[in-house]
Amino acid sequence: MNASEKKRSAAEAALEFVEPGITLGVGTGSTVNLLIEMLPGVRDKIDRVVSSSKASTALLEENGFKVSTLNETGDYDLYIDGADESNKRLQLIKGGGGALTREKVLAAAARRFICIADDTKLVGMLGSFPLPIEVLPMAQELISRRMLKMRGHPIWREGFITDNGNHILDIHDLQISNPLEMEARINRIPGVVTVGIFADRPADILLIGGDDGVREMRV
Ligand code: 5RP
Repeated sequence: MNASEKKRSAAEAALEFVEPGITLGVGTGSTVNLLIEMLPGVRDKIDRVVSSSKASTALLEENGFKVSTLNETGDYDLYIDGADESNKRLQLIKGGGGALTREKVLAAAARRFICIADDTKLVGMLGSFPLPIEVLPMAQELISRRMLKMRGHPIWREGFITDNGNHILDIHDLQISNPLEMEARINRIPGVVTVGIFADRPADILLIGGDDGVREMRV
């Protein structure tokens, strides 16, 4: 099975959690795109949809969904999103697609958060995937210097502007042995909009697509 087939099987498994009358939050990325293309099959069960990016909103609309804002829905039922890495405590690195800020907001407001991924995303320790940080453009150099002091190597994702008008720094070579502490520490640097560690609000369920089918993990 290739990575795309594994992602598809994880996305398909997530459909089982879509219950009648649900308000559904939708993440961003190639795994979520596969999910969005399957959502017309469960359209009757979905009351409202909220989205974490302009790209996902466009794809949802192409598939016939009207997208609500989080201010309209308030706290809601279920958020489904992919990840760049997960550890076995379902703490994540996200933001490979640059949508981490809205993803973190949607995850915070969801009563349940299901992460869908292929089996290459499950790791022992977070940090092999460069950690994305959304930053205010004017604070980029300050934050780069602070990350160097933390032994990370920041690379500016040049030419990329987030949906919120900000920049992304990808931090290489961090070994994130304590994700909760690292998330809090980076959040304290002025000018950080969002750090792509999802440890304070980890996933509740991880659906991992692999050669032998989909494995469900809970904390
Ligand atoms: C976007 C994300 C994605 O969930 C993450 O990058 C995984 O993407 P993919 O499903 O394409 O592997 O955090 O900001």
